[in-house]
Amino acid sequence: MERYFAPCPRGLETALADELQRLCAGDIEPADGGVAFAGALELAYRANLESRLASRVLWRVGDGAYRDERDVYALAYHRDWPRWFRADRTLRVDVAATRSPLKSLEFATLRIKDAVCDRHRAVAGKRPTVSKDHPDVRVHAYLTADHATFYLDTSGEPLFKRGYRRETTEAPLRENLAAGLLRLAGWQPGTPLLDPMCGSGTIAIEAALMALDIAPGLKRTFGFQKLAWYDGPTWQRIKQAAQRRAKPPVPIGIYASDDDASAIQRCAANLVTAGASGVVSVERVDALARAAPEPPGVIVTNPPYGVRQADSAALAAFYPQLGDALKQRFAGWTAYLFSGDPRLPKLIGLKASRRTPLFNGALECRLYEYRLVAGSARRAHAVIK
Ligand SMILES: C[S@@+](CC[C@H](N)C(=O)[O-])C[C@H]1O[C@@H](n2cnc3c(N)ncnc32)[C@H](O)[C@@H]1O
Repeated sequence: MERYFAPCPRGLETALADELQRLCAGDIEPADGGVAFAGALELAYRANLESRLASRVLWRVGDGAYRDERDVYALAYHRDWPRWFRADRTLRVDVAATRSPLKSLEFATLRIKDAVCDRHRAVAGKRPTVSKDHPDVRVHAYLTADHATFYLDTSGEPLFKRGYRRETTEAPLRENLAAGLLRLAGWQPGTPLLDPMCGSGTIAIEAALMALDIAPGLKRTFGFQKLAWYDGPTWQRIKQAAQRRAKPPVPIGIYASDDDASAIQRCAANLVTAGASGVVSVERVDALARAAPEPPGVIVTNPPYGVRQADSAALAAFYPQLGDALKQRFAGWTAYLFSGDPRLPKLIGLKASRRTPLFNGALECRLYEYRLVAGSARRAHAVIK
């Protein structure tokens, strides 16, 4: 039984644990910022291919107690790196830490890199070379106050890089965060879905991939393909089974719109690359004027917000108008608004029935749930202090 850790955007740990359960993982333990789990090596192939929420799948290769950099070097040196990858692979080491007493994580990273390379030289007479940008193999170390854990990254490029998004708007959501919003909203294929401020279309595209049962990793390669245990025929079998499962792209009640012409163009181009063109209805229209598709469904959207979009006064004026538009045109729908702007819930004039904290990178955000039942709206808009 192998042990793994899958990091994910903070706030999605429970949803990721559910997803891993559906992939038949064992010993599932959500932690802060990811989920630990266990299973055979084959599970690494499937988790990379199928997980919509994980950022990576790390394969745990050892751990131990440490007090200083020398201990960290010794712990790393005593892992059997030459058994796991060849010395002619290029290498990158990343270290993350919580409450580590070490003065410099950069120095710890260097020492781990030295240990891995020294071990290779001792066994094979050859050292791997370092590549920061396009490494074949990534080693991750996680340091707590007194414990170091080492991982080999089975993903390579992070899993939110699905390979469909060539065209982005200014503030695109990461694909796994978009998929996570859909999961937290409880959206299921078959229920109408609208993103009225779709930008490059990430939410709608993730929904389309879910509805068509297209595995998110079908269009890319993975780090495990550079590891010694990689078994090509097994991988092909798993991948082909996923390919056979995919449904043909037909319109399925997913709607994306934006008032920006270039965003709409990008969204349409990304849908083509994702193999989901024709599935999502894409339209250029102002969210404040948009009519509700029939029958009622779910809105999941990521309105513009202050940190990235300079015009904060315009936003303060926009939120109450958005609240009014939702009230007037979307009775019967449930809206999920994802935002890092604390003014949104104060100014929108609707009462949130749920607020889920989430992180978009380092930015603390919330997913606000609004049940748009006629007459449920708060009368007056609160005033911000
Ligand atoms: C934060 S971005 C959404 C990013 C998107 N989730 C993605 O992954 O690419 C907000 C989007 O809202 C759009 N927008 C702003 N005001 C709008 C309005 N009144 N009607 C429709 N779209 C609007 C912007 O053009 C922008 O694309």
